[in-house]
Amino acid sequence: MKHTSMQVPEEFQITPYHFKQYLVDGKLKTWEGATSEVYSTIRTVNAEGEQLPTLLGTIPDMESEAALEALESANTAYNRGQGKWPTMKVSERLKCMETFVEKMKQHREAVVKLLMWEICKNKSDSYKEFDRTVDYIYDTIEAYKNLDRKGAKFDKQGGIHAHIRRGPLGVVLCLGPYNYPLNETFCLLVPAIIMGNTAIFKPAKHGVLLIAPLLQAFQESFPPGVVNIVFGRGRKIASPIMQTGVIDVLALIGHSSSAVALQDEHPNKNRLRLVLGLEAKNPAIVLPDADLENTIKECISGTLSFNGQRCTALKVLFVHESIVDEFNRRFSKAVDELVFGMPWEDTFLTPLPEPGKPAYIQDLIKDAVAKGAKILNKKGGQLSENYSFPAVLYPVNETMDVYHEEQFGPVIPIIAYKDINEPLEVMATSNYGQQVSLFGRDVRKIGPLIDALANLVCRVNLNSACQRGPDVYPFTGRKNSAVGTLSVYDALRSFSIRTFVASKDTPYNNEILESMLHSKDSNFVTTEYLL
Ligand code: G3H
Repeated sequence: MKHTSMQVPEEFQITPYHFKQYLVDGKLKTWEGATSEVYSTIRTVNAEGEQLPTLLGTIPDMESEAALEALESANTAYNRGQGKWPTMKVSERLKCMETFVEKMKQHREAVVKLLMWEICKNKSDSYKEFDRTVDYIYDTIEAYKNLDRKGAKFDKQGGIHAHIRRGPLGVVLCLGPYNYPLNETFCLLVPAIIMGNTAIFKPAKHGVLLIAPLLQAFQESFPPGVVNIVFGRGRKIASPIMQTGVIDVLALIGHSSSAVALQDEHPNKNRLRLVLGLEAKNPAIVLPDADLENTIKECISGTLSFNGQRCTALKVLFVHESIVDEFNRRFSKAVDELVFGMPWEDTFLTPLPEPGKPAYIQDLIKDAVAKGAKILNKKGGQLSENYSFPAVLYPVNETMDVYHEEQFGPVIPIIAYKDINEPLEVMATSNYGQQVSLFGRDVRKIGPLIDALANLVCRVNLNSACQRGPDVYPFTGRKNSAVGTLSVYDALRSFSIRTFVASKDTPYNNEILESMLHSKDSNFVTTEYLL
């Protein structure tokens, strides 16, 4: 399979961008040390006529000292909770965020182009990622106003007045994934800082250059030290930061092994709060009476949107034995009809951004085939330099690697079941528990099944693929799939803690409180109502 020879339309052509800046203490500093090259797996023809991965630019490969400088900056800005940012009026913090989002919007085209080149996301999904992130920021601003309004009052119980609000936790280390390098990272960073925390943010391994156009917007929108952005490898940046014990929150979307390794670096486990979105092995369960047309459509999007590189992707399909042959025939045909192309051609299938991924997917296929599975679709496993065409594997069993691993790529294991307890048992014994897709119609079957599934995962998708959105809904998981809950509303809670002022109902105290409310000397004790 050859997909490499192509002309890039002028509007999508890219000139290598040698980016040297990082943001620390409110200053855009120039990195004078080593840099690393950023390549796209999309191949273009060079001056010598060779087709090679495309050089997109360079980014700083920063050392531990610079990471610790960023930590110092965040820690100073937080200043034990006495900093300008954590004590600022909520309305002023919101103004900073509004300024940021307006500035961010000006970089839509640049960021979208880099999303297409760096992580090979197709054009419409790249625009969707940008726009969804902007919406998320606006929704977060509204959600915080609402939360703040609820706190703009006094309660009285047992003769004690209480003014209860949510306060920041401290210094946050924020690490996002390559599949949503803008959206998922900002869904951590934005609620973290809006609640009054300060942050150090290191972009993911892929999808790094696209953060560059936004550095200045961060610098101009927030007080010094609130957001610090550094580039480089996890072991040189994240590990030394964690080892200091200064981090109050580890916010990470990625693999549980990274989350565990970083927690282990922190000397004070109980100080460290965790906000983690981790891997999953979301199953689809197809009941005998499922509407196959809709089921196949949803299973295609569930397994193969962005080539299956989504934590919410369907990673295994359990199909009732009475319909499995029909399902396999129609599903395999639908997979082979999917079109591969370049991101700007807006095809459903696009190259894989990780250079080693096609080989990894091939290994999964070979292992399954060696143990008795067949590749059901004609194009399954066809290989090019940056792609392995989606392979439908059947029958899959527990001896195969693809049965256990989160493949995060274009290979779809199918398992036939006879008794519904078979998939339920697999889910119960799995280390993961994010979501499930349930396809069927008979409420006498579906009703009790939902009761069981809701206790095994955190979202049961009825006759539809698994997904995170809409972002106002809770996004979480059981077991090794998540720690904490994210959503526009829940993220504000995850990055804060309830804290309050209590005062006995005496004339002496009441007079102090009333006078404080009138004088506006406290930004915490206030009944100001944000509209
Ligand atoms: O990678 C995991 C993402 O949170 C999935 O989000 O379901 O909107 O693609 P999505």
